[in-house]
Amino acid sequence: MFQEPASSHAEQALQIIYDRSSTRAYCYEDLSRDTVQSLLEAGVRAPTALHQEPWSFVVIQDRELLRRISDAAKPLFLRQMERVSVPRDTTVYAYSDPHFNIFYDAGVLIVVCADPSLPFIEADCWLAAENIMLAACAMGLGSCAIGSALPALNLPEIKRDLDIPAPMSAVAALIVGIPKAKEAPTSRNPPRILSWKMPQTA
Ligand SMILES: Cc1cc2nc3c(=O)[nH]c(=O)nc-3n(C[C@H](O)[C@H](O)[C@H](O)COP(=O)(O)O)c2cc1C
Repeated sequence: MFQEPASSHAEQALQIIYDRSSTRAYCYEDLSRDTVQSLLEAGVRAPTALHQEPWSFVVIQDRELLRRISDAAKPLFLRQMERVSVPRDTTVYAYSDPHFNIFYDAGVLIVVCADPSLPFIEADCWLAAENIMLAACAMGLGSCAIGSALPALNLPEIKRDLDIPAPMSAVAALIVGIPKAKEAPTSRNPPRILSWKMPQTA
């Protein structure tokens, strides 16, 4: 049933959407398997094109392995950035720092994998990732999408280490953990509306 934005149910859901922000500083505390499982259950509630449910998940809670993937990811990401013209912000420069951990010392990396020959998998996997990030926010956890990990996660040797079958790709990746501090949501421009077609009135 349609609920006005002012109803408490809608207000709660909207609050979570407005509260979520990317967390880049985490406490050194591991999440339980049950907590991660709850996040995955929320992930698979995402909309899915053709009801394919194409996603499979890899959960990494091994900090040494995370550090290894981070080290492999940094040069690949820098090379990828050389090929595109995007503004170089401080985040990109950090990738040259040998001490920088692209996972910000979060204790959990969730990789969403799918068969790239299926249609709409990018949308499906990132929608699942967004569901996980909103669920994490609702549970008081921090999260951040880590797209820069994807080239490394798709290296044959790393896929092998993570038990990702050869025909599948890592499509989306995000970290989750206990935030060191509550970060304020970042700002957004108002929606840019190109057109809004209404029926012609006589
Ligand atoms: C597809 C995608 C990939 C991203 N990859 C990274 C990343 O590799 N590292 C990072 O620190 N943040 C990454 N982010 C987070 C964005 O920087 C962040 O969402 C954006 O700055 C807006 O801030 P907010 O999430 O706090 O609202 C990514 C976000 C998206 C949607």
